[in-house]
Amino acid sequence: MKDSINATKLKKRILTGDRPTGPLHIGHYIGSIKKRIELQDEYESFFIIADLQVFTDHIEKYAEIQNNIYELMADYMALGLKPSNCFFVQSCVPELAELTVYFSYLVGMSNVIGNPTVKQEAKVYGVKNMSFGFVGYPISQAADILGFRPQLVPVGKDQLPHLELTREIARRFNNTFNKEVFQLPEPLLSECPSLIGTDGKNKMSKSLNNAIFLKNSEKELKKKVMSMYTDPNRIHPTDLGNPDKNPIFIYHKLFNPNTNEVKDMEDRYRKGKIGDVEVKEKLFVALNNMLEPIREKRNKLIQDKSFINDILSEGNKRARIVVAETLEKVKTAMCVNYNFKRGS
Ligand code: TRP
Repeated sequence: MKDSINATKLKKRILTGDRPTGPLHIGHYIGSIKKRIELQDEYESFFIIADLQVFTDHIEKYAEIQNNIYELMADYMALGLKPSNCFFVQSCVPELAELTVYFSYLVGMSNVIGNPTVKQEAKVYGVKNMSFGFVGYPISQAADILGFRPQLVPVGKDQLPHLELTREIARRFNNTFNKEVFQLPEPLLSECPSLIGTDGKNKMSKSLNNAIFLKNSEKELKKKVMSMYTDPNRIHPTDLGNPDKNPIFIYHKLFNPNTNEVKDMEDRYRKGKIGDVEVKEKLFVALNNMLEPIREKRNKLIQDKSFINDILSEGNKRARIVVAETLEKVKTAMCVNYNFKRGS
């Protein structure tokens, strides 16, 4: 027992997470969750479910958040993230909100308004209608990260401006209060940041209706794969094709473990010796082999939520302890750790 505690202490930390906006699709898996699974044994891992962030640009979805948290957790577990990692819900760790307030004094208005990710997301609402909480959420995200004092933050490219702000806040904090409370966390970009959707046009995304979800039934999966976009200029199976930018082949390369089969199909595709239907059918088989056990596991987990409830209760408790430690350091450095009690 003692050894395992020591081992945990020696491990470096990672922190990353997601907004609970719906179930995960295969683009999430390949772009971020796969990396987390690879890292989870080597690092002490904290995974935030950022429920409050849903209020930034999707406040109307407030009533779906709880269900989305279950969907997300079921997907995580089914994919192979271990329940022994720390999974927690942002709003269940109020210390993060407190830390956000302290950090907010270190950030200039120009940093807040100029954030490229916020600007991009603001297009949904229009800049004029953005809430105060929306423009300020990168500060809250900096608290999510620095609260855990992690060395590494595995994220996609779109999150880099937030990480830059986080590092800036850490720097400014240390300089302003003349104490090395924070080390600067490093981003860890995944090799496959975004997967093309089944429409062959846009990044896979729930709102664009071009996503293959882990929870999709065998029937739904088949329908989605068989109606995937291929190459509109290739009308007959005998036409010479180019597999390189073709989403069916992109998926084969990522998800079909039978590399010989994939190579053979690419060859025949180039030579005009294979039809789209065969390529799609083989893709369906490969995807279904991968997704079947995941689907079964997640459906079981969704039926009995007590397992997920236990993981989150435990995670919230652990997260609160870690962030409370950080908050103590922050308040001490800022000389607001007064001798009189704050009351309980
Ligand atoms: N902004 C992230 C997203 O949209 C979610 C998130 C919240 C996060 N806090 C974080 C990611 C801290 C990494 C680190 O998916």
